[in-house]
Amino acid sequence: MLDSPVIDSLLIRIFRFRTRGFLRMEEVDGAMPAVPQEGGCQLYVHIPFCETLCSFCSFHRVQYCPERARRYFAALREEIRRYHAAGHRFTDVYFGGGTPTAEPAELLETIGLVRRLFGVREISVETNPKDLRPDLLEQLRLAGVTRLSVGVQSFDDRLLREMERHEKYGGGAEIADRIRGAAGLFPTLNVDLIFNQPHQTLASLERDLEIFQTLGANQVSCYPLMTSPSVLRRMAGAMGTPDRRRLRQFYATILRRLQPEFTPTSAWCFTRRGQGGDEYIVTAENYVGVGSGAFSYLDGSLYATTFSLQGYEKLIASGRTGIVTRHRLGETDRLRYTLLVKMFGLSLDRAWAQRRYGSKFFRRLWGELRTLEVLGAARRDAAGWKLTERGMYWLMLMMSEFFESVNAYRDSMRAHVQAELAAEPSALLAPAAVQRNLAPLG
Ligand SMILES: C[S@@+](CC[C@H](N)C(=O)[O-])C[C@H]1O[C@@H](n2cnc3c(N)ncnc32)[C@H](O)[C@@H]1O
Ligand code: SF4
Repeated sequence: MLDSPVIDSLLIRIFRFRTRGFLRMEEVDGAMPAVPQEGGCQLYVHIPFCETLCSFCSFHRVQYCPERARRYFAALREEIRRYHAAGHRFTDVYFGGGTPTAEPAELLETIGLVRRLFGVREISVETNPKDLRPDLLEQLRLAGVTRLSVGVQSFDDRLLREMERHEKYGGGAEIADRIRGAAGLFPTLNVDLIFNQPHQTLASLERDLEIFQTLGANQVSCYPLMTSPSVLRRMAGAMGTPDRRRLRQFYATILRRLQPEFTPTSAWCFTRRGQGGDEYIVTAENYVGVGSGAFSYLDGSLYATTFSLQGYEKLIASGRTGIVTRHRLGETDRLRYTLLVKMFGLSLDRAWAQRRYGSKFFRRLWGELRTLEVLGAARRDAAGWKLTERGMYWLMLMMSEFFESVNAYRDSMRAHVQAELAAEPSALLAPAAVQRNLAPLG
């Protein structure tokens, strides 16, 4: 009874209702946010450039153009220096995209800067299968990259063709060979897969996981396909429309196929023998996002930077950060956000929550915590709450719901800079009127 689509959709409705205020962003003006008072902070660096723009992709990405990328990286480094000068300190850095390796020399210079300024412990970089070239891999290793994350999505040639990735990044066998060539070079080598693609079968997913296990990579992130109105429109042709009712079966297949050789480090990330780190959001209490289309979370406030590349350059040139919107979460929303992130990371440590927020954490979230227990989503012991497999499935659904609301926000922000994003890269270099995309969420 509990493991039914009816309960799933009821839980998602409640989740939507309870988190409806998370992204009520209001306009702000590039001001530097204050250094967080408590908890560590990670740096997220967004590199939006890609040679191919995949239809299913929900991130802020633009067509790669060398000149535009170089100017962007220069602005990025300026913004990073500005955070340093304002007293921000980071323990780890995550380069995400887009495709951070689109302009390797610029990326390496930026990694060097972050290392010099902050002495970070972990350096995570996203890349695509085509960029797994021996020369670049060696440069990334020497630069101190500790986690390389490769976007594969599937090894199934039919699905790769539908995604229009086959031509650009090679077929499944070629991608697998390239990943084998990168095995052992970094402490963590992660492979991204996407499940619940419209034409994906359970057998195809099983095969993807089977191939993954032969590669020598020690981590896999299995993302449910997350959409937005614009993603659905773009996918409608070749890829089709995903059916949420199939999520449970796909997820059960992932758990069965990967465990016990791989252990979950979040509801959608699995690591061999518990090594390595997950995405930045799980470990970071606070994070600063720099670049165009990046999010920050600092002391209970969410911030987003401009989605206009021109606007971004202009903000940085005028001595500001890229931040154009902010939402200060109310006290209960802040606790709920913490609970979501912690439970997605599989457990909540009672002593930590008490130290961090005091007993109000348990008072205000009594309903949420009790519901998790009663539904068998989490088990409570003296140390705190631990997610069960049933709970992992629901947290995967909830986090994907949260990211879909982030995707809707991205859609609305990108709509304001549609003309700029659609223009030829050369046109973007002209001194056109620069608008920032400041509209608050409707
Ligand atoms: C921002 S991409 C960077 C990787 C690199 N650009 C590539 O595609 O090879 C990071 C990952 O996000 C995931 N992703 C992108 N769009 C998604 C969507 N709509 N739903 C779920 N995951 C998605 C993919 O697994 C992708 O590898
Ligand atoms: S999936 Fe990767 S390559 Fe494709 S558009 Fe998104 S970021 Fe770019």
